[in-house]
Amino acid sequence: MRPLVETVNLKKYFSVRRGVARLLKGRVKYVPAVDDVNLKIYEGERVSLVGESGSGKTTLGRLLLRLITLTSGEIYFEGKNIMLLKGKELKEFRQKAQIIFQDPYTALDLRQTIRGALEEALIIHNLYSREERLETVIKALKSVGLVPPEFFLEKYPHELSGGQRQRAVIARALILNPKFLVFDEPLSLLDATTRVQILNMINEVKEKFNLTYLFITHDIALARYISDKMFIMYQGKIMEAGLTEEVLKDPLHPYTKTLMMAIPVPDPETKISLPPKVSGMDAYMVISLQGCRFYPRCMYATQQCKIETPLLKEVEPNRLVACWNIKS
Ligand SMILES: Nc1ncnc2c1ncn2[C@@H]1O[C@H](COP(=O)(O)OP(=O)(O)OP(=O)(O)O)[C@@H](O)[C@H]1O
Ligand SMILES: [Mg+2]
Repeated sequence: MRPLVETVNLKKYFSVRRGVARLLKGRVKYVPAVDDVNLKIYEGERVSLVGESGSGKTTLGRLLLRLITLTSGEIYFEGKNIMLLKGKELKEFRQKAQIIFQDPYTALDLRQTIRGALEEALIIHNLYSREERLETVIKALKSVGLVPPEFFLEKYPHELSGGQRQRAVIARALILNPKFLVFDEPLSLLDATTRVQILNMINEVKEKFNLTYLFITHDIALARYISDKMFIMYQGKIMEAGLTEEVLKDPLHPYTKTLMMAIPVPDPETKISLPPKVSGMDAYMVISLQGCRFYPRCMYATQQCKIETPLLKEVEPNRLVACWNIKS
């Protein structure tokens, strides 16, 4: 079966500003935000992309939607290289693949009503007649739980709660009848109850619209509720991939184990000590392109790990791990 989304040796290196580059002296002058990523997402799959801050998740999500250029490699959507799309084909791709960001406030135009925002999406893509548009907007609002829709049509973003705003953003994506969605931490600004409600809504619309999605999160515990398959990312590289249930039950990569340890334990008496955390800005200061990216934090690291970069390989059916210490 052909994947809906596929990347081949995908790389995105950001160059470091000159001032910072000088500080780094002879070391890396760029951030390998996405480094040689090969992933396949099949139609209908619910996939999560999990990793700490700075691991390259957003960059990968943006690449898949062609919102930024790549450094090297290929990205395919429905078998077509998206970097080569032009004109009508590119417009179609823009309709079929949508991204939902963390902050719905910045995703919406504050001077536009919800109806205006949703209708605009339809107008840009020449969808439906004038008369059909309002009906389509109402249907989209209903599908994301903004009911009664008449109540929300003429509201401005500031008149909605955070959860309602995120629903509106999702409605605006769904109204285009997309095939593939990237959710980039869409719940992290919401309170716990709203989070659960939106999570349920996403699962409902997934079924209803027969969606395929990539759900980006730093919270590995959340992946259980949102995905059937997961990719674990660290400093630009996929460290482990497999069925969510199996990875959570038996994490193989030491980094995945670290992420599991970060899940809060219900018993406050249980204390676990976490390995030192390296992330964000600090991360690329210490990124060595040689060896395993996780080497400086790994308690099982050997000399080989320091020198040779482990490739992501199948160690069990449907389970890929990039670690010298895990043998198939
Ligand atoms: N436009 C940019 N210019 C330079 N460096 C960038 C740019 N965007 C991202 N980076 C760097 O690339 C790396 C990956 O960033 P990215 O935002 O993809 O991580 P993330 O996993 O989404 O993190 P978070 O969980 O904090 O959102 C980081 O080191 C970041 O500083
Ligand atoms: Mg991000």
